[in-house]
Amino acid sequence: MEITLSSAGLKDWDGSVLIIGIFEGELEKQIQSFALPYKSYLNHRIKEQNFNAKVGEITCFDLPENSPRKLILVGLGEAKDLLINDLRNAAALSARASVGNNGKLGIYFPWDLFEPESATKAVGEAIRLALFKDLRFKSNPDPFLKADVVELIGINKSAEKSLSTISPICSGVELARELVGAPPNSITPTTLAEAAVQISKEYSLEAKVLNKEECEAKGMGAYLAVAQGSDLEPKFIHLIYKTKGPIKRRLAMVGKGLTFDSGGYNLKVGAAQIDMMKFDMGGSAAVIGAARAIAELQPANIEVHFIVAACENMINGSAVHPGDIVKASNGKTIEINNTDAEGRLTLADALVYACALEPDAIVDLATLTGACVIALGDEIAGLWTENDQLAAELINAANDSGEGIWRMPLQRSYKEGLKSMLADIKNTGPRAGGSITAGLFLQEFVQKSIPWAHIDIAGTVWAEKDRGLDPAGATGYGVRTLVKWACDQENKSG
Ligand code: BES
Ligand code: MG
Ligand code: ZN
Repeated sequence: MEITLSSAGLKDWDGSVLIIGIFEGELEKQIQSFALPYKSYLNHRIKEQNFNAKVGEITCFDLPENSPRKLILVGLGEAKDLLINDLRNAAALSARASVGNNGKLGIYFPWDLFEPESATKAVGEAIRLALFKDLRFKSNPDPFLKADVVELIGINKSAEKSLSTISPICSGVELARELVGAPPNSITPTTLAEAAVQISKEYSLEAKVLNKEECEAKGMGAYLAVAQGSDLEPKFIHLIYKTKGPIKRRLAMVGKGLTFDSGGYNLKVGAAQIDMMKFDMGGSAAVIGAARAIAELQPANIEVHFIVAACENMINGSAVHPGDIVKASNGKTIEINNTDAEGRLTLADALVYACALEPDAIVDLATLTGACVIALGDEIAGLWTENDQLAAELINAANDSGEGIWRMPLQRSYKEGLKSMLADIKNTGPRAGGSITAGLFLQEFVQKSIPWAHIDIAGTVWAEKDRGLDPAGATGYGVRTLVKWACDQENKSG
């Protein structure tokens, strides 16, 4: 799908579906002010509808003449309340209403209220991502007709600059969605590693994949303990993006890569959604999706490491017992008092590995805790870091991308809950504050001198039903924030 700017007026625009954003209470005034060729017909039809242009309201008309053949009016609410996220949602909603029509889709919004570059990026991404559909596993899919070309009508030419970033970013999000959406018999640690290597070949990234023996040699006892109950080999994935010029900042992005989480002997039962646990590699998908996007965007001055300790959490005769004590690659011993808190065990060794690269900052993304979903729901990820600057950078990147995020505390006193009688630490604390103790556990495996942030995406990785620019299913959450964060580092000295 190509996204471009159109300098045509509404009157001359010649595509197949036209979307117009309407302010609440201003429908008639706006329709009068637009030079629309079929105005009298419209005036007549609109009166039949009860369309008030409230936020999220939408109405569609088939037009008598064939260009355009369909008009979609989407409510933007009151002009004074309009945020860029409302533009995103309105664009996504109306794009979805255009499904069934191919050809050219035009969108006419009150662009002037926003900076043209941000509006282009927001609306362009929203339309492309809202029209994503995963048909890979259907043997005989229903036709899914969507626009081939999208034109942003009447927007200032200066918006052009941000057009070129839309496709690389959205391709990264779509890749992440496909990785997460794929079932656990399709995306395994091995096929996830293969997908990462494939990306590295296509976009000239460096790639390393460590097998079990190589991880053993590094002493990754926490990660390997999780993997030991599965018939599938663990794969430790490491991709590297290096700008061609001088490097000023080195970043590491670490993703939880559980291609399936049964819970282990602390088996997921009852409401624990065991059937959804293919999405437990959402952090790794975000990181690999970001790698793809960053490699295509080629930001200057930075080097980025993408790290995933991929495995499955399963049960067999050699699976970890609840109560086992294992040793991570930094030498810390861990009492595994709950085998279902496996993500943090894999991340522990992945974070130690990331620290050894001496990056200027580390961000990890993980579907880590149900507690985070209870706290923040499915539209907002939790962010934990002690570094205010890194927090500000990530929140800014997320806000700019339209991804929900909220900073949470690394309450030091809660470390008490992770005390083990026998080992240095245990992997789970009390139920209350479970997403905080998870973060505190991870912190034990990060060198204090390295700015580090943890993002819990347990809620945001999946959409139960269509919401905003996420069609129901895997959201690809995190890619846009990571890419924006990395690209912003391009201009940071240090
Ligand atoms: N992958 C889950 C977290 C999760 C739960 C993600 C629900 C999305 C929806 C993680 O491995 C897990 O099982 N966490 C446990 C931790 C507990 C045992 C301390 C949880 O949240 O229940
Ligand atoms: Mg678990
Ligand atoms: Zn898990």
